[in-house]
Amino acid sequence: MARFCLQLNAGIGRNLAMAFAADTGERKNSRKIERVELPEKVRNSRVLILGGTGRVGGSTALALSKFCPDLRIIVGGRNRDKGAAMVTKLGNSAEFSEVDINDSKSLQETLKDVDLVIHTAGPFQQAEKCTVLEAAIRNQTAYLDVCDDTSYAWRAKSYMNQALDANVPAITTGGIYPGVSNVMAAELVRAAKTESKAELERLRFYYYTAGSGGAGPTILSTSFLLLGEEVVAYNKGEKIKLKPYSGMLNIDFGQGIGKQDCFLLNLPEVRSIHEVLGVPTVSARFGTAPFFWNWGMAAMTYLLPAETLRDRSKVQQLVQLFDPLVRAVDGVIGEKVSMRVDLDCSDGKTRIGIFSHKRLSESVGISTAAFALAILEGSTQPGVWFPEEPEGIAIEARETLLSRAAQGTINFIMNKAPWMVETDPKEIGFGIYS
Ligand SMILES: NC(=O)c1ccc[n+]([C@@H]2O[C@H](COP(=O)([O-])OP(=O)(O)OC[C@H]3O[C@@H](n4cnc5c(N)ncnc54)[C@H](OP(=O)(O)O)[C@@H]3O)[C@@H](O)[C@H]2O)c1
Repeated sequence: MARFCLQLNAGIGRNLAMAFAADTGERKNSRKIERVELPEKVRNSRVLILGGTGRVGGSTALALSKFCPDLRIIVGGRNRDKGAAMVTKLGNSAEFSEVDINDSKSLQETLKDVDLVIHTAGPFQQAEKCTVLEAAIRNQTAYLDVCDDTSYAWRAKSYMNQALDANVPAITTGGIYPGVSNVMAAELVRAAKTESKAELERLRFYYYTAGSGGAGPTILSTSFLLLGEEVVAYNKGEKIKLKPYSGMLNIDFGQGIGKQDCFLLNLPEVRSIHEVLGVPTVSARFGTAPFFWNWGMAAMTYLLPAETLRDRSKVQQLVQLFDPLVRAVDGVIGEKVSMRVDLDCSDGKTRIGIFSHKRLSESVGISTAAFALAILEGSTQPGVWFPEEPEGIAIEARETLLSRAAQGTINFIMNKAPWMVETDPKEIGFGIYS
């Protein structure tokens, strides 16, 4: 029988001690989302999802409508037909609003009477302005984005004073990764600090997504732009720059995913975790499947000049050329996703967290919806915050956020030693499954 067990370790703090383990094989009901009872005054909030006709926005809209059927969801986008199709999936209280995020007048109009805007209308890479955040602040509307670009995220942060003055709570990088992974990192750091006086030494993010993870050609091509960016990492407090898609490590993502090769990438959570949580050594690696996609990406960094990889239209042409092959491979390989966060401390202890789901396109929406719920529940202070900041997601709200985001996962564990999560626990006789 499918089982979901919550282990509470009495030796460490209540929130820190959570260790979820979900049984993979027979878990048939992974799509079921448990309803959330929002406080009365926000139960019927109007939530605008920009990019709501896309993969992340559509999935977020669906997840939110399942978490809280009483929310009034507005799907924002440029395409009426796609909007109408999305609205039919969301039930009676949903509507479509035609809006272009680069047209400040239409944005302003759409934001009227909206309580929370969720910005998923990427790409964020190379976007010159934070138009949606600006409009949200002007309208005093709470804000969440799923940005995955370092420059954009820090630009969003620079609106701190305006958001404070307008009393607007805002979170940037609040998706799955970055997003849930930042909260996992924050919780590991908190566990380490609570359990011992040891110094924090190193935090490493490892991500795995099979195939394109369901990304369309535009977003896929912007992901390739990362291959043209030097990787920023931190070593003993010093900022270092490394070659993209280098530094391969073979990482065990535990049950359901197994061991996967991961490579360095420039991701926003590296800098924010270093600066916010004060971890001296931080890096992020990413890997995909099948293995030849990793080879292809590594080859691109060697064969193509960085300027070409940073040129959106050139990369888009390249991706479009390979798109039929990408789709064919996606059909076979699926879209499993996994995040592993490792924290090393000076007492020699390593604590890890793992979050794995069979479908990125589903999990990213559930994760983003979990952030949206936290904002609606009042867990976010006015200002612009990263997920790991206590003003972004209050410390006491992190456990709830993680358990909501983890709905449907095939494996979710926190604050474990690495040997406890090896791919096949039966081999080492560790009884996390009863
Ligand atoms: N943080 C995370 O965990 C995470 C994970 C995955 C992806 N992401 C990011 O999320 C973003 C969305 O990814 P996706 O896969 O959902 O992309 P997608 O399927 O292409 O969706 C993008 C949506 O944005 C809309 N859009 C684009 N430009 C717009 C504009 N100017 N005005 C209004 N709507 C606009 C598009 O609608 P129309 O073109 O029809 O108007 C589309 O519905 C990307 O930037 C991606 O990098 C973040």
